[in-house]
Amino acid sequence: MPDGAKPVLDVRGLQTVFRTRGGDVHAVNSVSFHLKPGELLGVVGESGSGKSVTMMSLIGLLPMPPAEVRAGEVLLGDVDILKITPEQLRDVRGRRIGFVFQDPMTSLNPVFTVGNQVMEPLLRHMNMDKKQAFARAVELMELVGIPDATRRMKDYPHQFSGGMRQRVMIAIALACDPEVLIADEPTTALDVTIQAQIIELVKDLRTKLGMAIVWITHDLGVIAGIADRVMVMYGGQVVEQAPVKELFANPQHPYTRALLKTIPSVSGQREARLKVIEGQPPILGAAPTACPFKPRCGHAFDRCGNENPQRRALGADPVGYGHDVACHWDARTGGPV
Ligand SMILES: Nc1ncnc2c1ncn2[C@@H]1O[C@H](COP(=O)(O)OP(=O)(O)O)[C@@H](O)[C@H]1O
Ligand SMILES: [Mg+2]
Repeated sequence: MPDGAKPVLDVRGLQTVFRTRGGDVHAVNSVSFHLKPGELLGVVGESGSGKSVTMMSLIGLLPMPPAEVRAGEVLLGDVDILKITPEQLRDVRGRRIGFVFQDPMTSLNPVFTVGNQVMEPLLRHMNMDKKQAFARAVELMELVGIPDATRRMKDYPHQFSGGMRQRVMIAIALACDPEVLIADEPTTALDVTIQAQIIELVKDLRTKLGMAIVWITHDLGVIAGIADRVMVMYGGQVVEQAPVKELFANPQHPYTRALLKTIPSVSGQREARLKVIEGQPPILGAAPTACPFKPRCGHAFDRCGNENPQRRALGADPVGYGHDVACHWDARTGGPV
């Protein structure tokens, strides 16, 4: 990734709210991040922290209502894709941004053959005829490591294993050679061996194809092996962001530090390995006026209850390009900032 390269995707101040009978749910609060060409950004945070809603907001996949994107810009190249028409956005989604979700059984249509589903984006976006699309679909199935690809084109999703279905989803996501691939917990439903194979596949494809990737997971261990940069989310906000080595060597936010302690050590006993962070994630009922992590934080002081901390840069880099953290406590001094 060339330094200083213009981001392929630049998200600024994204705010998404669900309007429900019980009141508004502030799922995404002023989230900003960028993605440089060819880079892999890992997004971590426990369940409910706003990872999926962030990504679905920016590609227009949330049901609206109840969802409402209240603020923000999502620049894909020079175009704000929050401002384009639904037809233009559909085109962006199929062609320029590919995505893979957790459960390939609900993402694949059970009544169509796998071949048909891999051919679909090629026919729709790439101006191919059926013969060309078939040939390209076979190539894509081979690319993602599906054995005997030509024959398997005629099979239905239920005839594939979970790991093979996820490979099919990756083939579909990559069909139109997108600039950005968004993978939302793509291996969570798979067993550990298959999970490792899918991660290897994505690493390999990234080298071959050079797209930028957003990889969402609640598992920092996975991130350690694949990401260039990591964004940590908590309570609908970005609480810390840094290059991967820096984040592991020098975590600043008390939440990140707690998350790192939950990673099983290679040599550790299974029972002793899995620690959980005590306390409950926040209820996102109101726009936050305090730090969302305060109730679970061992370092909180008065200011944390009165003011939601802004992201501040560590070192000389401007926010977003080096290491930044949203916390009133300074991990380096052990006192207030
Ligand atoms: N359809 C919905 N209606 C109301 N709230 C929702 C809806 N979908 C998601 N949320 C809320 O948005 C928050 C973020 O969810 P999500 O992005 O799915 O978390 P993550 O992907 O990090 O596990 C959660 O508090 C969740 O309850
Ligand atoms: Mg999710």
